[in-house]
Amino acid sequence: MAIRFYSTLYLVICLSPLIIFGYSPNDVKTWCSQTPHPHPCESFLSHNPNNIPIKGKSQFFKISTQLALDRAILAHTNLYSLGSKCQNAHEKAAWADCLELYDYTIQKLNKSIDPVTNGATQNDAQSWLSTALTNLETCLAGFIDLAVSNNQLMPSNNVSNLISNTLSINKVPYTSQPEYKQGFPTWVKPGDRKLLQSSSPKADIVVAKDGSGNYKTINEAISAASKRKGSGRYVIYVKAGSYKENVQIKLNNIMLLGDGIGKTIITGSKSVGGGTTTFNSATVGYHVISSDLEASNSSAGNTIAGDSWLPASQPPMPFSCAL
Ligand SMILES: *[C@@H]1O[C@H](CO)[C@@H](O)[C@H](O)[C@H]1NC(C)=O
Ligand SMILES: *[C@@H]1O[C@H](CO)[C@@H](O)[C@H](O)[C@H]1NC(C)=O
Ligand SMILES: *[C@@H]1O[C@H](CO)[C@@H](O)[C@H](O)[C@H]1NC(C)=O
Repeated sequence: MAIRFYSTLYLVICLSPLIIFGYSPNDVKTWCSQTPHPHPCESFLSHNPNNIPIKGKSQFFKISTQLALDRAILAHTNLYSLGSKCQNAHEKAAWADCLELYDYTIQKLNKSIDPVTNGATQNDAQSWLSTALTNLETCLAGFIDLAVSNNQLMPSNNVSNLISNTLSINKVPYTSQPEYKQGFPTWVKPGDRKLLQSSSPKADIVVAKDGSGNYKTINEAISAASKRKGSGRYVIYVKAGSYKENVQIKLNNIMLLGDGIGKTIITGSKSVGGGTTTFNSATVGYHVISSDLEASNSSAGNTIAGDSWLPASQPPMPFSCAL
């Protein structure tokens, strides 16, 4: 129902933007030639040329991110309409994951268009944009994992290329290390940095396999966290042990702490063979800071990067979070 609602909404929103693009063909050519994928850039931006000049890099970044957003919305709508073509449960699972992943990508792109007015930095935008790109890779991987042969369902659009372009236009190079401050990526807030550095961070809830904590499974703890009062940072401490669980956190402000690499291990219990795609079997959630725990078998390192989760394409966090 929600999917249907959003698709309709996106459809309505996306019918107009293509008309807005009307930039000077010369400017479009010059700027697009500086991106890794000039062809889709030029071809979409010179649609309906109106000779509006492109005044500089920051404007070009906005235009390019808006373009990626519009195409992502269109792709989401197209993908949605292909649902009836799914031939079995595997295809349906990959398709449903993709819809959700495109939805996240759309949100991230939308936030990135004008990061500064949203109280964020170009660095944040870079992180959101890499997340947006990772999501689409995960979507594709879902189809490949399941060996879905129905080519019609494989999203073949240029959205990934357009996002790569925005990453390269943004001043932070895509391949560069994220910025670190005191050994932590800059998005880790000072309070969290302190928490992660302290040897025994204060846990709101303890998960322990041996029954010495509040709960024996991470999912029980997450379910308890969903009933907490307020929305402050909530720390779930997962004691050493191997947890065979599929962990998906859709709450804000949750921090997962473990006992260290090789000690606290989360292994996704769902396997692709069971009809679960990479996305659903990823043992990672959103809006999570994770420290000193290991998530293994999360489908070849495909992670869903939340606001506070480094995308798989970036180096692992310095405080030994292994994916
Ligand atoms: C979009 O990508 C397809 C390949 O997937 C390519 O054939 C097509 O030319 C691209 N469109 C543009 C405008 O670059
Ligand atoms: C983009 O963000 C704005 C402001 O938060 C919101 O009003 C708008 O609906 C969003 N658009 C999409 C397509 O998500
Ligand atoms: C990880 O996955 C491989 C193959 O997919 C499997 O053989 C192995 O048992 C899994 N390991 C764990 C700890 O689940």
